[in-house]
Amino acid sequence: MTRDPSTTDQPVTNALSHDDGPLIKLDGLRKVFYTDEMETHALADVHLEVQRGEFVEVMGPSGCGKSTLLAVIGLLDTPSEGEYWLDGRPMSTVSAQERAGLRNRHIGFIFQAFNLIGDLTVLENVELPLTYRGMPAAERRRCSLRSLERVGMSHRVDHYPGQLSGGQQQRVAAARAVAGDPLILLADEPTGNLDSTNGEAVMGLLRDLHEAGSTILMVTHDPRYSRFAERTVHLFDGRIVEEEVVLRRARTEDKR
Ligand SMILES: Nc1ncnc2c1ncn2[C@@H]1O[C@H](COP(=O)(O)OP(=O)(O)OP(=O)(O)O)[C@@H](O)[C@H]1O
Ligand SMILES: [Mg+2]
Repeated sequence: MTRDPSTTDQPVTNALSHDDGPLIKLDGLRKVFYTDEMETHALADVHLEVQRGEFVEVMGPSGCGKSTLLAVIGLLDTPSEGEYWLDGRPMSTVSAQERAGLRNRHIGFIFQAFNLIGDLTVLENVELPLTYRGMPAAERRRCSLRSLERVGMSHRVDHYPGQLSGGQQQRVAAARAVAGDPLILLADEPTGNLDSTNGEAVMGLLRDLHEAGSTILMVTHDPRYSRFAERTVHLFDGRIVEEEVVLRRARTEDKR
């Protein structure tokens, strides 16, 4: 798998430096949402480092800031305070256009609310992020069909999202997220609507992506899938309250 930006024709602005430090570093991160008469401190002084190739699980009660955390890490939202360093670069100094470039090129998402585009077919939805990356049509199709097959959705490629069940939409969203082989995968309850067979299929996709070198942050409430992660970060009221590191060796044995 080639992730060296020098071997691609992508503009340099989208390149990551391959710094030796953590891939993701959050330093004193805060996110405050203002609505009519309320201030919500969704993230309050978060410090977190994620190394290249780590698989981190994020847990915590509803409303504690998990999706907000992934949105900031995925460059979909900006923090109110604090700094986010991506591969050694402070993201506060990066233009909106450059942020979009970094996001399209390097980050895959499985959103809590699928975010499939209703007037595109299943195949077109999965192909879309690859289009942003400038991948040629034939390769795009091959990668998309392969990941749809992995989640048992090959028989629905010409359907529209509205014609699928919730679990099927979730499997398509997972296929879309991994098809482009992202450097970072952010998965928000990727197995939330799935039975155990389909949950295992989606987790199998994530595990393969991780074994190929991707860095994964996954929000989950489901302890069945904790065994895939190397570290668990617990959030409470917008703060990291506990971290559990699991020895990689024990995890690897566990997977067998
Ligand atoms: N756009 C917004 N405007 C105002 N408040 C928001 C917004 N987005 C999130 N919040 C608030 O920020 C807090 C954190 O929300 P977030 O979605 O990150 O929680 P979560 O941990 O993902 O919860 P869940 O497990 O239910 O998905 C919540 O109190 C939520 O109401
Ligand atoms: Mg959420």
